[in-house]
Amino acid sequence: MKKLCFTLFIVSLCLVTKSQGNNYIQNYHKFEGLALTPPMGWNSWNKFACNVDEKLIREIADAMISSGMKDAGYTYINIDDCWHGDRDSKGFIHPDPKRFPSGMKALADYIHSKSLKIGIYSDAGSQTCGGRPGSRGFEFQDAMTYAGWGIDYLKYDWCNTEGLKAEGAYKTITAALRKAGRPIVLSICEWGNDIPWIWGQSVGHLWRTTGDIYNCFDCIIDHGTWKAWGVMQILDKQEGLRKYAGPGHWNDPDMLEIGNGGFAPGENRAHFTMWSMLAAPLIAGNDLRTMSKEIKEVLTNKEVIAVNQDALGIQGFKWMVKDSVETWCKPLKNDEWAICFLNRSTRPKAIKFDWKKQEVTDTIFLKQLNAAANVYNLKDLWTGKNAGNTQKELDTILPPHDVLMFRLSK
Ligand code: GLA
Repeated sequence: MKKLCFTLFIVSLCLVTKSQGNNYIQNYHKFEGLALTPPMGWNSWNKFACNVDEKLIREIADAMISSGMKDAGYTYINIDDCWHGDRDSKGFIHPDPKRFPSGMKALADYIHSKSLKIGIYSDAGSQTCGGRPGSRGFEFQDAMTYAGWGIDYLKYDWCNTEGLKAEGAYKTITAALRKAGRPIVLSICEWGNDIPWIWGQSVGHLWRTTGDIYNCFDCIIDHGTWKAWGVMQILDKQEGLRKYAGPGHWNDPDMLEIGNGGFAPGENRAHFTMWSMLAAPLIAGNDLRTMSKEIKEVLTNKEVIAVNQDALGIQGFKWMVKDSVETWCKPLKNDEWAICFLNRSTRPKAIKFDWKKQEVTDTIFLKQLNAAANVYNLKDLWTGKNAGNTQKELDTILPPHDVLMFRLSK
């Protein structure tokens, strides 16, 4: 009997070991428990494009703290395209030695010493969009390198990927990150081409839903083979996607353009409000070292950020549209709600909203705001003032390209 038990033990041990061997190839599962609320941070691309170096990144990390951005919740300092130098004879990637003479590990240590996190950028193809070495064929080696440097976040782009399928390519980098062993947030950046919201949940922590944002409120920039989109155009492209988002897996309508000079004050508020209502990653894209008080106040509005970071992680939805004014609703924890009114027109618009007559219903996440049966107090999140309650009809004028945003609590 003893002998039989021993034999069975050995056989099962062999089976477990064998299946673990297979699991390694198939184990593309991302690190769970990361990005349980939408990631908040900064990225170099929107303002600096390829002009990145270690001095800039260190100064941005310092400014993240001195500006109050870190206190408001921004954590990641993400270096986008063009940090790369060459691969060495063994295939290991190195940063550009002129731009990053101290190396990435030293930069990561500096950022970590400030209790911030560091992100880096690569591409599933042979070259990045900026023509630097891509990770194709080097996925496991690059993931090991990033883990060794202490990287916390990887944005993985989709240029020069001829012959690759997005789902497989992103699963490969997920497997590589897992194998490297350091929990790294994976930002899938294939612009929504291959419906990443369908397959992305087990692969990455956020996925771009559109092509690149452009620093304008309402415009399309046509580059011939691709287009860049204004804030309103990106907003419209989120239609139908909310059911795919939640804690640990977010729709990403691209980084913020606030502070890059393209917007009027109301447009800054509207951009930030809508990204918060969408439970979008809040990745600032401006020069944090020189931003004005007005921009800082928008980016660090803690009550608007609290809507974005709400623990339920429910993406908001468009409830109605009337005369160019959209009403958006987002269920929050403790039966609270965020509601905003967005005036997309270039003219002031009158808004009348009788809370008691609106039975706002979220048919996907099964939430209901019933102001006929309950009285909700209203807090105006841009003035910071109490604004009465839902007993009284809202009757006001909304300036062009601006928002009114409330938090409703019983
Ligand atoms: C693509 C991405 C951008 C940025 C650039 C860098 O266009 O969508 O966000 O990373 O590449 O080259």
